[in-house]
Formats: sequence, structure tokens, C-alpha cells
Amino acid sequence: MLIHIPDVLTKEQVAQFRQALAGAEWGDGRMTAGYQSAKAKQNLQLPEGSPVARQLGEAILKTLARVPLFMSAALPAKVFPPLFNCYEGGHGFGNHADNAIRYMPNGEAVRTDVSMTLFLSDPDEYDGGELIVDDTYGPHSTKLPAGHMVVYPGTSLHRVMPITRGTRIAAFFWCQSMVRDDTKRALLFDLDTAIQRLTKDMPDHPSLVQLMAVYHNLLRQWAEV
Ligand code: NI
Repeated sequence: MLIHIPDVLTKEQVAQFRQALAGAEWGDGRMTAGYQSAKAKQNLQLPEGSPVARQLGEAILKTLARVPLFMSAALPAKVFPPLFNCYEGGHGFGNHADNAIRYMPNGEAVRTDVSMTLFLSDPDEYDGGELIVDDTYGPHSTKLPAGHMVVYPGTSLHRVMPITRGTRIAAFFWCQSMVRDDTKRALLFDLDTAIQRLTKDMPDHPSLVQLMAVYHNLLRQWAEV
């Protein structure tokens, strides 16, 4: 299940991010890749300890905590601090799976149940650079406006198509979800989405209370906290 979360950052925030990133020191993207994915990966990345990455990453996490669609889709237990990448001049990232476990700067392990890419370049700034994610229904191509984010299962194979013009800048990160299983998480998301719609359209319907109880009782069954 791929979920598009619009307007995570405002146009003004995107402009501030872009300005800060333009002055940052970029390194080889293979610094955070595993053995297999290093062979497929060609891009630039900010080092994990970079003050710019830390500062912008904290701003993203602060904003995301107030985005109900993200909270409902990812059910985050722990979020890995966002990293930043830049693709240009033929860069791309061939088909790969992400490492299952990442270690935060304090040494704490994060299981990468859910992957996020927050686009910081607009689609008209570059050609190529689509994020392609495979799921059971086949490949899905994503190229979103700056400030928008895609959420997809950390279990999926995915790739970034080669850039043939311009520059693609994005933040990418992972979270460990309270609900590890993609199928269960997707069911909870669908149920929550339906409840939210019903709450808007028929706020006094007595079945809403029952549906909410079902949601929370499923979460109680499946959540690891
Ligand atoms: Ni990846």
C-alpha cells in the first residue's frame, strides 16, 4: 500500500530547506548502503551526523507528528531521523531492499517497517528520478510535488530511475511501526479512513462507536508497544 501525503511542508518551508541544503556538504550515497544495495546506488547524501541534516530532520519529525494521515498510515513507534539525498547527472538507484534494522545515533535499533520519501524538488525540475515501488499489484511509479511525501512498506523492492535532466532532492527515512505486518497495518488504515469519513458525513450514527471499538480492539490485539 502506497500512501500519498500532500503538503507535509509548505512552499516556504521547502524554500528554506532547499537553501540550507544548497550550502551543505554532500557525500557519496553509498555511505549508508548495505553490501548489495551499494552496487546499485549512485547518488549524493548528507552524512548522518551533519548539523544541517539533523536540524532539517528534526523539523520534519515535528511537523509529521501533527499530520493525522501519517500517524494513521504508519502507526509509528520509533522514527529514524530523516536523511537527505540528491540525484543528478545520470544518478539512479537500482532495484533493492532496504536494511531491516537501522541504528539511531544513540545506538537504538529501529526496524524499518515503513519507508518514507519526502520530495523537496518539484517534478518539472528534473526528468527521470521516479521512485518505483513493487507491491503485489505490480510496480507503482511516484513523482510528487515538493513538500509531498509517499509512505510505502519497508518490505518492498524499490528503485529510483536514472536522472536525465536537472536535480532531484529528497528526504528519506523509516519508522518502526506499532503494527509490524503490512497487511494488518493496511487493514487498520482502511478502517480508520472509513471511520473518519463517517464521522464527517454522519457524526451521530450509533454504529460509529462500535466501529471505533473494533478499530481500537484490533490495534490492542496487534500493536507492540
Ligand atoms: Ni531504498
